Amino acid sequence: MSNYHIKNLEEYFQVYRKSVRDPETFWGEIAEENFMWQKQWDKVLEYDLSKPEISWFKGAKLNITENCLDRHLYARGNKTAIIFEPNDPSEKAEHITYKQLHERVCKFANVLLENGIKKGDRVCIYLPMIPELAVSLLACARIGAIHSVVFAGFSATALSTRIIDSDCKMVITSDGSFRGNKTINLKAIVDEALESCPNIETVLVAKRIHTEIPMKQNRDKWLQPLLDAASTDCAPEIMDAEAPLFILYTSGSTGKPKGMVHTTAGYMVYTSYTFKNVFQYRENDVYWCTADIGWITGHSYIVYGPLANGATTVLFEGVPSYPDFGRFWEVVEKHKITQFYTAPTAIRALAKERLDFSENYDLSSLKILGTVGEPINEEAWHWYDENIGKKNCPIVDTWWQTETGGIMISPIPYATPTIPTYATLPLPGIQPALMDENGEELIGNLVSGRLCIKFPWPGMARTIWGNHQRYKETYFSAFENKYFSGDGALRDSTGYYRITGRVDDVIIVSGHNLGTAPIEDAINEHPAVAESAIVGFPHDVKGNALYGFVILKETGESRLHDNLRKEINQIITEHIGPIAKLDKIQFTEGLPKTRSGKIMRRILRKIAEKDTNNLGDISTLLNPEVVQTIIDKAL
Ligand code: WT7
Repeated sequence: MSNYHIKNLEEYFQVYRKSVRDPETFWGEIAEENFMWQKQWDKVLEYDLSKPEISWFKGAKLNITENCLDRHLYARGNKTAIIFEPNDPSEKAEHITYKQLHERVCKFANVLLENGIKKGDRVCIYLPMIPELAVSLLACARIGAIHSVVFAGFSATALSTRIIDSDCKMVITSDGSFRGNKTINLKAIVDEALESCPNIETVLVAKRIHTEIPMKQNRDKWLQPLLDAASTDCAPEIMDAEAPLFILYTSGSTGKPKGMVHTTAGYMVYTSYTFKNVFQYRENDVYWCTADIGWITGHSYIVYGPLANGATTVLFEGVPSYPDFGRFWEVVEKHKITQFYTAPTAIRALAKERLDFSENYDLSSLKILGTVGEPINEEAWHWYDENIGKKNCPIVDTWWQTETGGIMISPIPYATPTIPTYATLPLPGIQPALMDENGEELIGNLVSGRLCIKFPWPGMARTIWGNHQRYKETYFSAFENKYFSGDGALRDSTGYYRITGRVDDVIIVSGHNLGTAPIEDAINEHPAVAESAIVGFPHDVKGNALYGFVILKETGESRLHDNLRKEINQIITEHIGPIAKLDKIQFTEGLPKTRSGKIMRRILRKIAEKDTNNLGDISTLLNPEVVQTIIDKAL
């Protein structure tokens, strides 16, 4: 039996028990047997969750790119590492071998060095899904620079906030991007963002859409000529196990986005181990995760996890609906995809379309299907199982978060029997706990509560960049000595977990994690707006959609309201991005508030869900009379 690769349910239970009984031996063996270290660790784990301080493989030295690239060169140099599938199906796919990827990463790393980037510097990456994106992450890691990828759908304001927060020195971007039938001028967004980022010294610009764009002298440089001139030799910087590998922002329920910091060794071991098991990756498989590398799913399961296993991973530039709704399945047929990993929102969108979009393609290469990002509803699960998996592919419903670094609760194909809507069992090393509102752990089965993790795991984020106190308060204060996820979950009679959704003010829209506070802050910037409150309501494709209750400074004529709605969504697009636009905007004269002045979102949520028969006790509100007036005008 190997710890590293679980093949059946009995092995799972054996390995799981070992991982709980003796976590250090468990992770120590996995780390020792499956990775390349420049120096062994002194101690597998040291932790104090009250601070919280967590250190995995302390004293070890390594470079993650040696593990993702160099060590595969001998046996897999000519194996395809990345298949780049362009937005336009008539453009040829590009197959990048491990040897070529190694060369491209080394060249890019040398360009970074030549442009003054040193170990520990932060580099912001704002790129579409093109090979340079994966290469730039690895190039940073090669020289010990900390990458901070910002999803290229974010606005200039969102980009500049993130650049400033982690004090990046460089931005890597492109002239533009292709997405479906749209062309987006990314560089213009960067230019706008950089008006408020004086510390950016260099902008490297990749060419993708080949349009004329302004280049700022002494700051902006075309990437390709620099790469052409760079050497293919670049010795890996030897890093401490706990050196930061990257920062990735996630929205919180309050305040500015949180720059989650992931470190080197633990993240590598965890993403690699979970990739191997959850996707049962075998040497000649072709694995495809449709996420964007701008999210954690892409970091962990397009780039680091697959490459650490010497896998072939697909990097897809396009969208599921272009040129038509058969695009995913065309790519599956074309590259003979074996594992396919996507979001419930994509599945629901495709399930609404005609069946021949999937029936026209040969999907027989598929072995395993995965979902991530939000709860998958039963109908979507069955559609996926029947029409894509042909009832022959286990579906892994994987629960995890930006903060957890890798998959936490998920079936292991061929080991764990699946049940629709259940993420099923914790992976080895993961010790979930469900907590009640009084902070007591719920013991036994058939319980539901707040989902916590009560023991460290190697992939966990170590801090919030520049604000350790906030890290402690957000994740380790609600329940003593436990990591609190912000999600609710139930445990059924067999011990299976089902994630029921967020219990805080984060709303998952189309699999994107959106905090209410930043959206409200954006709306409140509108000169006509006095106050606003955002809640989620169920949506059949997006999972949740956003409902805004807005108080205007002056009650104007209602014929102006449509214009105001447009302007409010425009402001949101400018501050955050189009993903945060509101589906419904109700103008109201008041918002239900507690006596301490807090908006009672629980009531607004019920109104948005059209479930107003049972609003609970509203008599303690400061202004109970406002509730009926909101219900009367609900959209
Ligand atoms: C939140 C984390 C992890 C990568 C993508 C999202 C929700 C995630 C599931 C699932 C139900 C899920 C949770 C979680 N979520 N996976 N399989 N079932 N809910 O990362 O943006 O950090 O969002 O996504 O609410 O807390 P993220």
